[in-house]
Amino acid sequence: MQQNIELNVDNKAVVPGYEILVLIGTGGIGKVFEARDGAGRKIAVKIMKPTPFLGENYLDSIIRSVELIKRFSQDPSFRLVKIRETGKISDFFYIVMDLYEKGSLEKLVREKSWIFAARVEFVFMLAKSLAKIHSVGLIHGDLKPANIMISENFEPYLNDFYQAADNTFLGRTYSGLSGTPLYMSPEQLSGKFLNKSTDIYSFGIIACEILTGKTPYPPEAVKGFSDISSSIHSGNLIPPEKLSREIDPEMNRILLKALQVDLKQRYANMELIAEELNRYRGKKMKKNSFPNNIRNLFR
Ligand SMILES: Nc1ncnc2c1ncn2[C@@H]1O[C@H](COP(=O)(O)OP(=O)(O)O)[C@@H](O)[C@H]1O
Ligand SMILES: [Mg+2]
Repeated sequence: MQQNIELNVDNKAVVPGYEILVLIGTGGIGKVFEARDGAGRKIAVKIMKPTPFLGENYLDSIIRSVELIKRFSQDPSFRLVKIRETGKISDFFYIVMDLYEKGSLEKLVREKSWIFAARVEFVFMLAKSLAKIHSVGLIHGDLKPANIMISENFEPYLNDFYQAADNTFLGRTYSGLSGTPLYMSPEQLSGKFLNKSTDIYSFGIIACEILTGKTPYPPEAVKGFSDISSSIHSGNLIPPEKLSREIDPEMNRILLKALQVDLKQRYANMELIAEELNRYRGKKMKKNSFPNNIRNLFR
């Protein structure tokens, strides 16, 4: 559908105040460009157009979520991709944000030289970040590697809070079939109302992929929404310890608890996961395997 965006990118000044440089990528609902601001700094601009198949109000709900998250993104302790400006040009909506030249976790996750201790550290930072957004009543709703950007220091920064909700809409978050099936929670796949548990499940899939290089449901087996749903409900999950020899029983237990279908069995909050991961770091990893600069953790 996104191919239908009628955006004349030959017009480099299509977004006022910014010069569009190159297309970084095309996602489900828009295109992301590298651009330059008036001061010559490189930034990223995401441009979205209403997509009729998602319904008239879809873009409006995205705009609401973006405005909600914009304020929090100014606070560096949240580790959110900073939103600098938003605006509308005819029926297009654009977001000007910080540019992440290292790209997203999608590439990094396949990086063979990324050692296990560094992967654990990254997963821990991700857990803390999610615990922090949950603590102010926000949920992400569409966590996946493409929405986790990598900073110059190899830290995770969360992007694309389009399904984000605050307490006033918590439990009424849009849960249409717009996500990436592999990372969607079973309750989201079945169109139920969402709460922070959905992020905890998506975190479990992503953490497994970061730590083992593979997702617990193989992507080739679960192309569509119904495949993944039936795969989850028929217990086809491959335990993380079977995916990599580096996963010990303790880490296996943590990951499986995040991936429970039954909400009563799943972790009740991200804070608990962050605490368990913190204990794990302390117990399993030698202190000197965590130099201050995460760069040093690459082979
Ligand atoms: N601020 C940014 N800096 C650098 N790359 C970005 C930024 N925001 C998004 N991208 C990248 O642009 C591509 C398209 O993004 P998006 O439209 O959000 O697609 P998706 O639906 O796959 O998340 C993705 O590869 C994403 O990682
Ligand atoms: Mg995205």
